[in-house]
Amino acid sequence: MSTVNSGLVHDLLVELDRTGPLPLHRQIESALREGIRAGRLPFGSSIPPSRRLAAELGISRGVVVEAYDQLVAEGYLVSTPGSYTRVAAAPEQIVTEPAAPPSPGPRIDFGYGRTDAASFPRAVWLRSLKRVLTTAPHDRLNYLDGYGVPELRKSLADYLTRVRGVSATPSQVLITSGFGQAGALVLQVLADRGGKRIAVEDPSADDDIRPLAVRHGFEVVPLPVTADGVSVEALERSDADLVMLTPSHQWPLGGVLPAEARAAVVRWARTTGALVLEDDYDAEYRYDRAPVGAVQGLAPDVVIYAGSLSKTLAPGLRLGWLVLPPHLTSAVAEAKLLADRGSPAIEQLAFADFLVRGEFDRQLRRMRPVYRRRRDALLAALAEHLPDLEPTGIAAGLHAVAWLPDDLDEHAVVTAAADHGVQVAGIAPYRLTKPGRPGLIIGYSSLNEAQITEGIRLLAEAITTMLPATSATRAEGTPAGAGRRAR
Ligand SMILES: Cc1ncc(COP(=O)(O)O)c(C=O)c1O
Repeated sequence: MSTVNSGLVHDLLVELDRTGPLPLHRQIESALREGIRAGRLPFGSSIPPSRRLAAELGISRGVVVEAYDQLVAEGYLVSTPGSYTRVAAAPEQIVTEPAAPPSPGPRIDFGYGRTDAASFPRAVWLRSLKRVLTTAPHDRLNYLDGYGVPELRKSLADYLTRVRGVSATPSQVLITSGFGQAGALVLQVLADRGGKRIAVEDPSADDDIRPLAVRHGFEVVPLPVTADGVSVEALERSDADLVMLTPSHQWPLGGVLPAEARAAVVRWARTTGALVLEDDYDAEYRYDRAPVGAVQGLAPDVVIYAGSLSKTLAPGLRLGWLVLPPHLTSAVAEAKLLADRGSPAIEQLAFADFLVRGEFDRQLRRMRPVYRRRRDALLAALAEHLPDLEPTGIAAGLHAVAWLPDDLDEHAVVTAAADHGVQVAGIAPYRLTKPGRPGLIIGYSSLNEAQITEGIRLLAEAITTMLPATSATRAEGTPAGAGRRAR
């Protein structure tokens, strides 16, 4: 609690910078504001008369008066005729800019690219953390090299070989801060080696490789994506030094690159001397399709494999990895060392422990049916409320794409959904070549089944508001949310 103090504060601790851009009266204001907020100028205390402070600071009185007047207007000071100006008696009296009302946020957020953070296995992770903190040799707390801790490189090489069909020895594994950094390191090394062109899927994520490639001066070549993944013919024409692919679950459309296309990509890389960056971002979540191994397993000499914990455990861990062709390892490790001197060792060790104890497998086994039920709830709700939307990319991953009928404007649907409290993304922002088929990206991983059903019902209502109000639908007394496409 603040006490009222009616004494005179003799030293306001105002220091003026006469060379800086901030006017003197603003400097006095902010020094006093800070003093009041920090309690150095107690509530109720008197501050020196403007004439005296002006003399002490060697400035004109008008400057001090202007500052005091402003603080009176803001409620920090009270001025009474014939008396000292005082610090306002109570903090509640301080009038600040009225805060903008907090935005309520969407009622249902179909945001993609996230895990169910509430399902993070905290207790088990904590046990791994405790174990490694207790047992790790002191040397593990020292500076690292650019490759990562040996324990994790070894356990990841074993895991990726076993589960993803990756061809990896520990010496090829390099630990990064997620895929974002993995891609940045690869681009850096390629740029240093004179790379000029990068081929990317169209549509594809727009927040890592694409902007980074532009920053490094690469030309970005879009490759059209169909339901089966990227167009190999376009790749063969691209003259690219690197192609960036999401072959096991194309982001965002969800296709799996077929075997012939995989072989053709590898052939292209070997013939042209180019490289493939394989982003295996959510391969672990597969519901009703056969497992598909990593392309890297076919051609470890030309494919750079990248993975991350962001879709399986938590993006906040910032842990990812690369499996590199041997001729790239030392250059990428050097870039990693330059970037951040290595990822945090304790987290790396904890994940290694988590992996070797089978906890990662267990967590994936636990989450697969959870996400599958959510995916099924989404499909059921779409079938019930929006049967004219065509789901795709649903056999795996943590989001689905729903194609919209061609005559519905994607942006207008996203806006109408937001007006109905539903956040959903369109595909257009991720396209390099526009326009394209309209569609929505619907993330379901962090919503329960009831929320998913409610979200799709609201989306249907939103879409109904966009349809021409036909006399037929009205006359039949169709309930809200019903219509030609939305029911
Ligand atoms: C296509 C794709 N790959 C990988 C990732 C993971 O990135 P990071 O490991 O940097 O979190 C994401 C994240 O959203 C993504 O959309």
